[in-house]
Amino acid sequence: MHVSFNLAADIDAAMKTAAAAAGIGDAAFSPEVRAADPRHGDFQANGVLACAKREKQNPRALAEKLIAALPAGITARYDTAVAGPGFINFTLKPAALTEWLAAFGTAGKLAAGAASAYANQTWVVDYSSPNTAKQMHVGHLRSAVIGEAICRLLEYSGAKVIRDNHLGDWGTQFGKLIYGFKRWADKDALARDPISELERLYKLGNDATPPGSPELEEARRELVKLQRGDHDSLELWKLFSEVSKKAFDEIYQRLAIRFDHYLGESFYNDKLQPVLDELTQLGIAEESQGALVVFHPGHPRFAKQPFIIRKTDGAANYATTDLATMLHRVGHFHADGIVIVTDFRQSDHFEQLALTTQKWFAKTGRRMPRFHHVTFGAVLGEDGKPLKTRSTDGTAIKLKDLLDEAEERALAVLREKNAGRPETERFSDDECRAIAHHVGIGSVQYADLSQNRSSDYVFSWDKMLALEGNTAPYLLYAVARIRSIFRKAGVEPGAPASEAGASAPETPAELALARKLVKFADALRLATDTLRPHFLALYLYELASDYSAFNNADKVLTDDAPVRARRLALCARTLLTLETGLHLLGVRTLKRM
Ligand code: ARG
Repeated sequence: MHVSFNLAADIDAAMKTAAAAAGIGDAAFSPEVRAADPRHGDFQANGVLACAKREKQNPRALAEKLIAALPAGITARYDTAVAGPGFINFTLKPAALTEWLAAFGTAGKLAAGAASAYANQTWVVDYSSPNTAKQMHVGHLRSAVIGEAICRLLEYSGAKVIRDNHLGDWGTQFGKLIYGFKRWADKDALARDPISELERLYKLGNDATPPGSPELEEARRELVKLQRGDHDSLELWKLFSEVSKKAFDEIYQRLAIRFDHYLGESFYNDKLQPVLDELTQLGIAEESQGALVVFHPGHPRFAKQPFIIRKTDGAANYATTDLATMLHRVGHFHADGIVIVTDFRQSDHFEQLALTTQKWFAKTGRRMPRFHHVTFGAVLGEDGKPLKTRSTDGTAIKLKDLLDEAEERALAVLREKNAGRPETERFSDDECRAIAHHVGIGSVQYADLSQNRSSDYVFSWDKMLALEGNTAPYLLYAVARIRSIFRKAGVEPGAPASEAGASAPETPAELALARKLVKFADALRLATDTLRPHFLALYLYELASDYSAFNNADKVLTDDAPVRARRLALCARTLLTLETGLHLLGVRTLKRM
């Protein structure tokens, strides 16, 4: 019989069938099936209550009626019960658990199961997107890490994903930077640490050009020259972009991020005027106090606060570029979905962008893609204030320094642990370094991803590097521990011979683990549909905890062949799920640790 990857979706569909059989129309009933607290079964349908109210029926009686009308494929696999005022609990029968675990028992089968949800969809994900000639600091971590996880989740769910780094590589700041560069550039510093030097030059340029000064006029002339495409100005600008991109790429490499495109703001320079023309001709944009703006009448905020798409001085701005970007992503990439990952402070901008694009595309017969501005909170220090360096200048921590420190700290922990190991099991120092690289970077990534992205989070080295709790080290260690069991057993994880003759899960710990394993599909769906990776992280943590309980309760390598086989199978599935899940979060796993 066909086994569905997503069991909750399966039950959902079955409940709708049952409702139809019981004379309830689709419109009146949404089953609301979710993974349940294990004490109440595996899934719960919560939608009966609301439906009973509308249909003026007794909820428990309606629940009974629906259960009686469930298709045989469901009743064969689940024990059902009415709970509380009218919930329906579904508990997988052991044979159905085994059936699912067998159907999705390899990396290939698991991926194939997941890949139908977003099949034939193209998603453009715009993330990281730092400004050039500036250092990436800790604030840039979240967009990069969350964006990459979202890309992987969408991809795993079957979408074609286009990773686009929308660099802030154009704008008025370049007038002042060129002004500073021409006067004070230090060749050696530029060769040694180009971004720091550019930051210094921008600061000098900015300080030297106060409002109303002739120096500012000069900086403006530099900007105009650049905008007109003056050869020497463009050469300088190209240098800024190149050295910036090189510095960014070093960070991306450490985080295992690779972009398909770097279509920064400058890419859209020659695509702005047609957008302004079109919006004006369509009557969507209008002149207001010398600027070109879009009002959204009837909107609580944007009826009065318009979207400015051309400034009073006639220059295009961030909004103009983003409108052209929308058009390019739909027209050129044929995006069905667009995700832009920035902190929440840009919420108004993207809300206005979405509203404006909707009107514009509706009037021109273009298809409006799904659009998500994925926001996130701030990274705080342990004092609850935005994370800053300990130095007195109070500047934000450079992302590079942060990653360095992560690796160093992980290395220190590892070396200490290593020294306590029996001589024969010790890692060489090179091995320690390689492991520390994974653990250090992984800890930083995971600390970010394990939080609901909407909240601020406190950056704590001790917490993120701890071997206990919802941390990368805990999960990486669980993976390494399972791998070591297979090394001891002398078999490859998932090798069919090692699982031949396995009996069905039986002990409470085995059953709890198996029931957790089948929920992977749900966690994946939830994390992907909401674009919130922490749902997957939480699931992985719970899975690792259930595994640990199983490992403490039940000896895997027993002499009882059918029991050993079924326990090895559970170990292999746990390993597969943990490795797959961590990979989806962008965290690299280790075979030994
Ligand atoms: N460069 C911008 C910043 O650092 C983020 C760009 C986000 N993407 C976009 N299409 N506007 O804030």
